[in-house]
Amino acid sequence: MERIKTYIDRLDEQLEGGIPKGSISLICGVAGCMKSSFAYNILYNNAVVGDKKGLYITLEQAVPNLKQQMETLGMVEESEKLAIVSHKMIDTETQLDMKFELNSMKKVKYYLDDLLKRENYDLIVIDPLNALYSLTTVKNPRREAHLFFEGLRETGVTSFLISEMYPGDTKYGKYGVEEFLADAIIHLDLKRERDILERHLGIIKMRCTNHNLQYFPLFYNNGKFVIYTKEEMEL
Ligand SMILES: Nc1ncnc2c1ncn2[C@@H]1O[C@H](COP(=O)(O)OP(=O)(O)OP(=O)(O)O)[C@@H](O)[C@H]1O
Ligand SMILES: [Mg+2]
Repeated sequence: MERIKTYIDRLDEQLEGGIPKGSISLICGVAGCMKSSFAYNILYNNAVVGDKKGLYITLEQAVPNLKQQMETLGMVEESEKLAIVSHKMIDTETQLDMKFELNSMKKVKYYLDDLLKRENYDLIVIDPLNALYSLTTVKNPRREAHLFFEGLRETGVTSFLISEMYPGDTKYGKYGVEEFLADAIIHLDLKRERDILERHLGIIKMRCTNHNLQYFPLFYNNGKFVIYTKEEMEL
C-alpha cells in the first residue's frame, strides 16, 4: 500500500511508513492543541521535502494570519506546491458559476470537484470541519456528513479534516458519525500534569495500519514536531 509520510519525527515508523494514500483522517483536539500547526506541518513538509502538492482550506483563520503563525513556528519556505485558500476565496469562486445558494459543505465539495478537474492535489486539509456545519444551516447534518466523506473519498486525495473538541468530550466529531466515516483518527491531547500542560498524540484508529496504541508525548522544537515512545521517555 502506498503511504503518505507525515514527516513528524518518529511517527511514520509507528504507522508502517505513513498514512494510507487516499484515506480521510480526522485531526482532533481541544482549542490550542496545535491541530492547525500539525496539519499544516504535514502539508508543508510534503511540499518542501516530498514534492507533493497540498491544499490547505482555512475556514476560520484568515490566510495572512495562518501564514504568519506558521512562519513563527519556523515554516518559512515558500513552495508553489502548497496552496492556502480561505472561505472568502471559495465563496467568490463558487458564486461566479452558481445561480443557487449552497450550504457550506456542498459549496466546499463543489469547489473541490471543480478544482480537481483542473489541478492535481495529493493532500487536502479542511480546517475546521466544524465550520462546514456552522456557516450556514445544514438540515440533516449526519446525512450531509456521510455524503461529504463519501465524495471526498471518491476524489482519491489524501485528506485531513480538523475536528474541534471541547474538554471532556467523548466524541471525536461534532455529530458522532465522523469518527466512523473517517479512516483514521489522530487525537492531539492536551493534559495538565503537575501544573504543566503536556501534549500527547494518540492514533485512535487507522484502517489498514498496524499502529502503536500508545499516547506519545508530542513536542514542537526547532521547526519540527517530534514524538517519543514510552520506552524512549523512560530511558
Ligand atoms: N514551539 C511551540 N511548542 C509548543 N507549543 C507551541 C509552540 N508555539 C506555539 N505553540 C502553541 O500552539 C498554539 C497554537 O496552535 P494551533 O493554532 O495550531 O492550535 P489549534 O489546535 O489549531 O488551535 P485552535 O483550536 O485555536 O484552532 C499556540 O497558541 C501556542 O499555545
Ligand atoms: Mg486551528
